[in-house]
Amino acid sequence: MGSPVIAILGTGSYAPEKILTNDDLSKIVDTSDEWIFSRSGIRERRIAGENETTSQMAASAARAALADAGLTAADIDLIIVATMTPDLPMPATACFVQSHLGVPTHAACFDLNAACSGFLYALDTAWAMLGSGRYRHALVIGAEKMSSVLDWTDRTTCVLFGDGAGAVVLGPARGTAQMIGVKLYAEGAHAGLLCIPNGGSNPPVPANGTVLAPRAITMKGREIFKIAIREMEDAARDILEQHQVSAAQINCVIPHQANLRIIEVIAQYLELPMESFFVNLDRYGNTSAASIPLALDEARRSGRVKPGDTTLFVAFGAGLTYGSALVRW
Ligand code: ACO
Repeated sequence: MGSPVIAILGTGSYAPEKILTNDDLSKIVDTSDEWIFSRSGIRERRIAGENETTSQMAASAARAALADAGLTAADIDLIIVATMTPDLPMPATACFVQSHLGVPTHAACFDLNAACSGFLYALDTAWAMLGSGRYRHALVIGAEKMSSVLDWTDRTTCVLFGDGAGAVVLGPARGTAQMIGVKLYAEGAHAGLLCIPNGGSNPPVPANGTVLAPRAITMKGREIFKIAIREMEDAARDILEQHQVSAAQINCVIPHQANLRIIEVIAQYLELPMESFFVNLDRYGNTSAASIPLALDEARRSGRVKPGDTTLFVAFGAGLTYGSALVRW
């Protein structure tokens, strides 16, 4: 017996209520709506409540995805949460999500950190596990509380990110829908360009009682900008070539929502009109691992992704990680 054909059966998303506009930010740091919008395409982002957790946002997105798939928590036997902002260093945020949803105890639950490419890494992992025939339905979730790892005095980073969650249910294909391919990559040599330089085991917390600065993202934005374009173009070209799909056959490209200028250059390099790209970063900023599934859910609900369509996902993130995926609906 061959591997089961696996497809995305449902999508869901969640965005916190609080909206932080560029004008709001200009009251906190030395910036302006004009600078942020012209450099990034972002107008506003959502910010989670102080006591709102990544797992709660993930569970809200997952409930919507389950409803969309016509399934319940009892059908799920695998949860993967892609996040770089877990509720706690341990246990896994996926276990909290399991508890929030009431997913049965026989489900495998774990987190995966590939920063902004995390959703594609989780999608490929879940696809492989379901393809083995040993799991039937997976929740693949990207969820981030980026506001918890930002230095709100650093205008070069705090204006770019937002909070939110997106989820898909993966399971045995129904109709024409199916996963076509995923390609994942990493360039660890560039890890230092974008990182949270403390809060992990390296460097160890000083024994002399010195207090480390709160953990926050540091980034060499200009360098990342250039590398991200090359990586996303390569990832998109590779997967199209591998599956003999032309760019013109893609109904919708859902890119990682980091910067509109990056997306515009990729559209130009792939010789695709901007109308082929689904963009919602103006309203959410960069929500890291949540970015693609959040955009995907909006694209489906707005009719931008329809049954029979072929969709290309393409992402890059800290690591530096990057990747692409082709999905038929
Ligand atoms: N408001 C006003 N001025 C600012 C701001 C701000 N928020 N931020 C920086 N500036 C200033 C800089 O200090 C600099 O001033 P200077 O020329 O006097 O030194 C000037 O604006 C230009 O700064 P640049 O960094 O050259 O601006 P650039 O056009 O490169 O845009 C940006 C910066 C938006 C960060 C861009 O480089 C970018 O998007 N890079 C990619 C970053 C990214 O996507 N990171 C997420 C990765 S995904 C993940 O895994 C988390």
